[in-house]
Amino acid sequence: MKILVLNGPNLNLLGEREPGIYGEDSLEQLEKNLDHVCQEEELEVDFFQSNYEGALLDALHGAKEKGYEGIIMNPGAFTHYSIALRDGIASIDLPVVEVHISNVYAREEFRSKSVTAPVSIGQITGFGLYGYELALLAIKQYIQRRG
Ligand code: DQA
Repeated sequence: MKILVLNGPNLNLLGEREPGIYGEDSLEQLEKNLDHVCQEEELEVDFFQSNYEGALLDALHGAKEKGYEGIIMNPGAFTHYSIALRDGIASIDLPVVEVHISNVYAREEFRSKSVTAPVSIGQITGFGLYGYELALLAIKQYIQRRG
């Protein structure tokens, strides 16, 4: 089963960026951390990060053709206002799980609104980088159950 993990703006700075909120591990470290889940769960996972909305849209649009069966996505700040990403998720015939490292509901008011969550199959927020592992387990089970 092939899964695509998409990370949005500023997530390339993981580890350096507000470590009190996002932790000290880099994006590279996150990708390495996920290796064991991928092996145990027999998942083939690819990663893509961009600070550009259009690049994330292109990744969403091309995912099915490239053989991905599901997408894990942390849209970063786009979560809160990108109708384009929302429509992009709704336009593709693939399940998307939304992940946030921090608990977006426990922060500034503007972070409590996600325009992308309603078109995702679910949202995992507040468990740090472990949220990506949870999301991989969740999407695998969703795809298998759906058949
Ligand atoms: C984030 C939460 C967003 O509000 C923020 O803009 C991010 C990261 C998270 O993973 O906690 O860039 O998506």
